[in-house]
Amino acid sequence: MATRVGILTGGGDCPGLNAVIRAVARRSFERGYDVVAARGGWGGLVHGQFETLGPREISGILPRGGTIIGTTRTNPYRIEGGVESVLRNAERQGLDALVAIGGEDTLGVAARLHEEHGLSVVGVPKTIDNDLSATDYTFGFDTAVTIATEAIDRLHTTAESHNRVMVVEVMGRHTGWIAVMSGIAGGADVILIPEQPITVEQACDELRSRHQGGKDFSIVVVSEGYELAYETGTRRAVDRGGEDAFGHVRLGGVGDELAREIQRRTGYETRVTVLGHVQRGGSPTPRDRILATRYGLKAADLVHERRFGRMAALHGDAIVDVALTEATAELKTVPPEWYEVARAFFG
Ligand code: F6P
Repeated sequence: MATRVGILTGGGDCPGLNAVIRAVARRSFERGYDVVAARGGWGGLVHGQFETLGPREISGILPRGGTIIGTTRTNPYRIEGGVESVLRNAERQGLDALVAIGGEDTLGVAARLHEEHGLSVVGVPKTIDNDLSATDYTFGFDTAVTIATEAIDRLHTTAESHNRVMVVEVMGRHTGWIAVMSGIAGGADVILIPEQPITVEQACDELRSRHQGGKDFSIVVVSEGYELAYETGTRRAVDRGGEDAFGHVRLGGVGDELAREIQRRTGYETRVTVLGHVQRGGSPTPRDRILATRYGLKAADLVHERRFGRMAALHGDAIVDVALTEATAELKTVPPEWYEVARAFFG
């Protein structure tokens, strides 16, 4: 019987997932392997929902956003009997290997299943947040930065016409990668991120000094995970309440609060734009298509070599493999050097 390779996409979707699926499948077909998708992330393995992928199913998907095999934030470890169901369904399907494409949560489950139950799994690092350790970049991030940068460019012209401060809230969870990179690319005047929490007072001072210098509009980029920080030392987190199956609170709303603070303290008319899921939608950039394709080929090769418990990663310009446990051990935060690049243009 042919080797059967399972594949799943878990967590929030992002551009490039289909490019990985295509690459894993194409290389596996070349070797005479069958490819089976678990539908809806770990949920597909928990509930036994599978679909065979053939050349037809993967045709034309390279530029498509989203994922053709669906995704959820299902956590088998939070469902009674979930882990046993995953193992039973993998065996019933005759899976010889599984490629898990996901971020911290999806790959964290993969790492545990490998460590604790010997599941034959390899990982591919996905997330617009770029917060996974052991890889320089995750796929999906470049597209999100591109979308956010374009939004900042557009907001510039309307801000300038109306002499307004525009606050742009971007995603990124507890790291400020999207905010810093799109802020640098878009020429933001202040950037607020969780890792380098400048205070609301400092942000307002930057805006005042800019306006005193002759500019009468400004762009402020704030990461959804930034906690409003004040000179008194107090911090105020803003979220939308509720938790997902991995215990993450739903972020969002800090842009509104910050805009209110800026207008109240400086008197400058201020508006807010929350980019939200637009950052995750649509076609991947060429860079993400290429990165996702290289990751997919690497994952298929790891499967062929039976090197399980590993994850495809980018180091410099080279695709390498690292331990899944290493990739999920800690969040990759924005280093101070990057923030300093952004800061050089504040005010
Ligand atoms: O992890 C990707 C991400 O888009 C985060 O940036 C954001 O906080 C979260 O997912 C949003 O999740 P959901 O799609 O469940 O609203």
